Amino acid sequence: MPGLIPERFIDELLARIDIVDVVQPRVPLKRAGREWTACCPFHDERTPSFYVSPAKQFYHCFGCGAHGSAIKFLMEYEHLEFPDAVEELAQSAGLTVPHEGGAAKPREDRTDLYGLLDAAATFYQRALPASAPAQAYCKKRGLDKDIIERFRIGWAPGGWDAVKRALGTGDAKTRLLEQAGMLSAGDGGKRYDRFRERLMFPIMDRRGRVIAFGGRVITSASNAHSADSARGEGPKYLNSPETPLFHKGRELFALWQVRQANGKLARLIVVEGYMDVVSLHQAGITQAVATLGTSTSNEHAELLFRTAPDVFFCFDGDRAGRSAAWRALESVLPRMRDGRQAFFLFLPEGEDPDTLVRKEGTDGFEARLKNATPLSEYFFAQLSQDINVATLDGRARLAEHAKPLLAKLPDGAFRDLMYAELEKRTGVQGGIANPAPVSRRNPQPAANTPRRTLVRSAIAMLLANPALAQEVTLPYAFAELDKPGVPLLTELLDFLQARPGINTAMLLEHFAGREESAALQKLALTEFPGEPEALRAEFLDAVRKLGEQTTQQRLDALIRKQSGVGLDDPEKQELRELLARKAVPATPSAS
Ligand code: UTP
Ligand code: MN
Repeated sequence: MPGLIPERFIDELLARIDIVDVVQPRVPLKRAGREWTACCPFHDERTPSFYVSPAKQFYHCFGCGAHGSAIKFLMEYEHLEFPDAVEELAQSAGLTVPHEGGAAKPREDRTDLYGLLDAAATFYQRALPASAPAQAYCKKRGLDKDIIERFRIGWAPGGWDAVKRALGTGDAKTRLLEQAGMLSAGDGGKRYDRFRERLMFPIMDRRGRVIAFGGRVITSASNAHSADSARGEGPKYLNSPETPLFHKGRELFALWQVRQANGKLARLIVVEGYMDVVSLHQAGITQAVATLGTSTSNEHAELLFRTAPDVFFCFDGDRAGRSAAWRALESVLPRMRDGRQAFFLFLPEGEDPDTLVRKEGTDGFEARLKNATPLSEYFFAQLSQDINVATLDGRARLAEHAKPLLAKLPDGAFRDLMYAELEKRTGVQGGIANPAPVSRRNPQPAANTPRRTLVRSAIAMLLANPALAQEVTLPYAFAELDKPGVPLLTELLDFLQARPGINTAMLLEHFAGREESAALQKLALTEFPGEPEALRAEFLDAVRKLGEQTTQQRLDALIRKQSGVGLDDPEKQELRELLARKAVPATPSAS
């Protein structure tokens, strides 16, 4: 695999940063002794079982088992691939990621894709002032210069190969354009520009990089607010296809602009269209995002609530809007941790946020948001819709429909209140079967230590303080010991001696792909309270005992052989020496 990030760089990076600084801005942590704690961002819970250890430089959740280094955290939390997480951390630490690479460079191809899409966005931006119809359309939609710039709105000229000509001469470039979703294939496989004569909205990722486009036709402008999509020019809005960079179920249009315009975010407003987002931002409501022609996916819901505690969903008041709202509700239910709120705003027939904010102004739209329906209310109203709750049967049906949905709610006060509401409305008790709370941090060592072998203990201590490896000298007295874990202990010691200064997270990172990885992760959780000096003594004691066990094992083998096939001279000599050595301090050959 070429384009690899050298391991040494990963070491340096993990040494340079502090995992607490990486987690803290994303998941506010509270101090808990030597560690930091919070409610786990990777599963829903009421009481914190997520711990971050500055000493070991890793995080661990005792509830769901999530764990890893700062890199892993970023990958999981921000949905980043390994190289991107490394890139992001490196940037924050002021380091440049070196790449060791052979001829083919898949990593750089990705970089090229980003570069290409950015160039395409710039090309469209420049084409906008040159097109009178596009200009007129922007004016008609009331887009001001500043908003056009902030959203990098552009114009895809007509013809069949404007983009190709501007960016794609040469086979390699054409292939890239295709990968980026910028080309369509006609009969006979001829490639031409996917976007022609459209107003272009670049879709950016969380880091502001262009990853896709949405393009609107401008010719049927009179028909601006119809959902009708089949016209001569193709659909009203045409989006990029799924590409290596763009997965529409994961992206939110304008999340980048929202982050740019706001400090700490208290709310997000989810609308349906590009124009809705742009108009709201122009009106100063800069927390608006849109899903991209899809309903709210679970991944969207996760991303929304990770970004802000309050999420407002705006939908058309029509049937399609209602069903989209219900799908959004279903995707947020499992994420309704305490402290999070979802609201639903239904707009009058024939209106969308774009038309409304222009008609009623910023204040008018804010007033609507203020009156939005809370999830709980919408939930029961919707479920009760075709049910006569005045009858016993009706109430039973309501309970029957509500229960499986409420069961998706995470443990917490909100869940309890929802069940209480259900009971109030139906008389049916539903909340009794609350699952047992996730097992809190239970100090495992108490239960496990007696059964933990000496080898495992030694490894655990080494993981707790990798510097201990420097205290063991070669050759290791236990190297020949025939017990599980000994080769791993030896390997760890070798590794740590070769890389002094490494911390626990770095060590675990190195073993990440290995079979032993899970076992190491678990051992790394062992707490060794008390002074470092005590740990050192205990570790050296374990190493010494392992050496003694090795002696004993060899002795047993020689004695067995003596009473069997017999010993040769060197073996007799060895036996004598071992017996003499044993005569001094005796240790049982227990494990
Ligand atoms: P709308 O048809 O409601 O468009 O589609 P809109 O946002 O109000 O746009 P204007 O005001 O007519 O310009 C809502 C969203 O659905 C997706 C787009 O994301 C659009 O913004 N859509 C719509 C498509 O992907 N393709 C289409 O053909 C139509
Ligand atoms: Mn519209």
